[in-house]
Amino acid sequence: MKDKVAVIGMGVIGGAVVNSLLKGKYEGKIVAAELFVEKIKDLEKQGVTVTKDNKKAAKTADIIILSVKPNILKSVLTEASKELENKLVISVAAAVTVDFCKRVVPKARFVRVMPNVAIKVQESFTAYCCDPDVTEQDKQKVQTILGYMGKAMEIDEKYMDAVTAVSGSGPGYLSIIIEALTYAGLKVGLPRDLAAQSAAQAVLGTAKLVLETDQTAAQIRDSVTTPGGTTIEAIAEVEASGIRQALMRAVEAATKKSETIRKNWE
Ligand SMILES: NC(=O)c1ccc[n+]([C@@H]2O[C@H](COP(=O)([O-])OP(=O)(O)OC[C@H]3O[C@@H](n4cnc5c(N)ncnc54)[C@H](OP(=O)(O)O)[C@@H]3O)[C@@H](O)[C@H]2O)c1
Repeated sequence: MKDKVAVIGMGVIGGAVVNSLLKGKYEGKIVAAELFVEKIKDLEKQGVTVTKDNKKAAKTADIIILSVKPNILKSVLTEASKELENKLVISVAAAVTVDFCKRVVPKARFVRVMPNVAIKVQESFTAYCCDPDVTEQDKQKVQTILGYMGKAMEIDEKYMDAVTAVSGSGPGYLSIIIEALTYAGLKVGLPRDLAAQSAAQAVLGTAKLVLETDQTAAQIRDSVTTPGGTTIEAIAEVEASGIRQALMRAVEAATKKSETIRKNWE
């Protein structure tokens, strides 16, 4: 695939998008647009065209990725509305619906995506939903582009708030678990680095077991829980802590917050 991709807004997510494309040796041309272009000048050495002109970036590209904050999105869409017409436009702005974008630029074909910060290491889970004008060919292109950033899955837009809560915010909750496990390691005498590495790798390895084998999380838990062994001692404590209910409440609260923010936008 050789479509020219423009990324508008080169912050945490926009920067990671461009970096993922570069790391994956994307064959098409890449344009990066940012208000303070000096911030991204270094990318020119890697063949990226940098500009502070959003309209120019949108005009020359086949696919435009909008990675500005939600409160800036409308002004960027309005500013480049002519240049976005008849183009495939991917918005990463949280809580801003496809319908909202479509009202600003009716002739563009919009895809709304929800990545997470693991996009920085090309391990994002990125959910996306499409406006009805997005074609099957567009969807294949979206899958290819998002594939550079991790795993991507098309979903119904009605699940976006919940997916935002589970995978968008997920690195927040899982960081607490890794940090807690690291501290637990310190408590039983492990050196700090050993505690941190073993905790993080245990989380990574468990996730890979779920994703790459046929086992469910429950089966993995059962497979390491030998009668009278060490793991069941720990599990008895973990279950008594109410961690399952805490995570359910956390995801429910984040979903409700995402709904509230979305409704304010609408
Ligand atoms: N961070 C996450 O974990 C995450 C996860 C999922 C979705 N998102 C979504 O991703 C989007 C970007 O988030 P982020 O965390 O990457 O934010 P960010 O780091 O603040 O990046 C936004 C970038 O856009 C630039 N910008 C502002 N106005 C602009 C304009 N008119 N034209 C071009 N560029 C402009 C900003 O420049 P200045 O800094 O100079 O203003 C900044 O570099 C948001 O809509 C957010 O909802 C973020």
